Amino acid sequence: MVNTILLLSVALMAPILDARTLTGPTHNKVVVCYVATWANYRNATVKYEMKDFNPDLCTHLVYAFAALDPTNHTIKPHDAWLDLESPGLKGYKTAVDMKRDYPHLKVTIAIGGWNEGSEKYSNMSSSPESRKRFIDSVVAFIDHYKFDGLDLDWEFPSKRGGRPEDKANFVALVKELKDAFESKQYLLTAALGAGKDTMDTAYDVAKLSRYLDLIHMMCYDYHGTWDGVVGANAPLRGTSEDDVLSLEYTIKYMISHGVSPYKLVLGLPMYGRNFLLKDPDTTEIVFGKTPAQPEGFKGNYIQETGFMGYNEICMDLMNNTAWKKFWDEKSATPYLRDGDRVVVYDNQRSIALKVKMAVDYGLGGVMVWSIDTDDTKGVCAEELDALTDIYARFNKMLVDPLVTKAVKSLGSGNKNHNYKGQYYLIHNDKLELRLLTRGNTNYPLMEAINQAMVISLEEKRIMAEVERITNTNVIDKKDKRGDKPGAASILSSSAVTLLFCLFFIGKL
Ligand SMILES: *[C@@H]1O[C@H](CO)[C@@H](O)[C@H](O)[C@H]1NC(C)=O
Ligand SMILES: *[C@@H]1O[C@H](CO)[C@@H](O)[C@H](O)[C@H]1NC(C)=O
Ligand SMILES: *[C@@H]1O[C@H](CO)[C@@H](O)[C@H](O)[C@H]1NC(C)=O
Ligand SMILES: *[C@@H]1O[C@H](CO)[C@@H](O)[C@H](O)[C@H]1NC(C)=O
Repeated sequence: MVNTILLLSVALMAPILDARTLTGPTHNKVVVCYVATWANYRNATVKYEMKDFNPDLCTHLVYAFAALDPTNHTIKPHDAWLDLESPGLKGYKTAVDMKRDYPHLKVTIAIGGWNEGSEKYSNMSSSPESRKRFIDSVVAFIDHYKFDGLDLDWEFPSKRGGRPEDKANFVALVKELKDAFESKQYLLTAALGAGKDTMDTAYDVAKLSRYLDLIHMMCYDYHGTWDGVVGANAPLRGTSEDDVLSLEYTIKYMISHGVSPYKLVLGLPMYGRNFLLKDPDTTEIVFGKTPAQPEGFKGNYIQETGFMGYNEICMDLMNNTAWKKFWDEKSATPYLRDGDRVVVYDNQRSIALKVKMAVDYGLGGVMVWSIDTDDTKGVCAEELDALTDIYARFNKMLVDPLVTKAVKSLGSGNKNHNYKGQYYLIHNDKLELRLLTRGNTNYPLMEAINQAMVISLEEKRIMAEVERITNTNVIDKKDKRGDKPGAASILSSSAVTLLFCLFFIGKL
């Protein structure tokens, strides 16, 4: 009975309330969430099933992975038991069915991944006939399982058993897929390697940018035990001027090689990498210098040598008081140390700084690999440094009288900006930071992404207004000296109106 009334009232409300305003992140950037579906087989403590996915945190769910059948170049489920129904765990159906209650959500299927290797993809893309075979199978597959599109995770063209022609063949594949998707409006995206060598060897990025809807940059695995020294999995900036292994270098490379920033999606790792020091008596750890053994160690639950999910790391941090926590300033990453064991990872603080960088460069948004290793159940205590940098920036902004003036001219009256709580508000024309204290909320890293995104976008909007005010002042002064009335000031105020509109359109 209660259910009937509930259903009825939802049905009545439906035409009035556009569901898109009710679900998903409140900002206008993409948040692409990969699910490593094999997380289903992990130890109960860190097990993740498709039904655990929280669509409110993401704009896109990418189901990883489907596989390529090398005999006839067609796409196929990687794990029929996990992916399909009757009998099976119906992963595909569970994922795409979420779109019903969360209409903002796009669900795509990723094909490839590290373990698939490169050679099958090299073969498939090598002739127009085999590409067509593949593309026809993909269209049929997407139609059949009701996905919204395809994500290509070929790791990597021209590498790992691939051939030099892969670079051009990959472009041909992407273009032909785009043509085939056109009438159906399917999304076409790709995950690209972020190391300079891979970007140089594997991709013609300007052409890829033309045909792909979004480019998911895998901005992680920059360093690991293979270096022989301790280093950051995902350094924000390099250790020196000519260090090409950092998020910032990758972003600059892509933009300077002709990629549209709004198509670029910054990948963020929800895992860390660990090391065993060669010399346990090392007093100070220096990234890029301190020698490490060829292999790291296994985490408690996922048990993969050298790799630890954030969930494993944060639980270990709580349970094992021997860990000492540090912050590496250059790479802007936290690390833990206990004797010869070192874990370099990402937490709320480093993730928030990465999100800020994505916003500063005007990128399309961020991507996470992968949501299943966030603290999805909310068992960890909050890391206390989470908001350090956000608070510092806000406090700096608050003492600037121009900022107060900008906030006043932007935000008439008091305004809340919500995502299940208030991140900041404009109160009596002053900006106030009202971040959630997380308590035992689950998905702390996803939560950090949402908070950092909303705040960074607002900071950017305010700084643009500060600039406008400053420029207008200059023009006003010129006007008084008898220069021609400033068309520029009219222009810039309409630019702000536009910004305003974009900001609110993004919320719809
Ligand atoms: C999960 O991991 C814990 C701690 O290592 C262990 O005690 C437990 O037996 C594991 N459970 C399964 C199902 O593997
Ligand atoms: C491709 O070949 C496999 C056998 O290797 C077969 O099971 C599958 O049905 C074929 N797919 C298509 C689309 O022909
Ligand atoms: C790729 O094609 C070559 C030549 O036809 C073949 O020998 C090889 O086995 C193929 N590789 C894979 C992984 O299917
Ligand atoms: C560590 O902490 C978590 C969360 O409190 C708990 O579930 C787990 O059993 C603890 N023990 C180990 C060995 O990780």
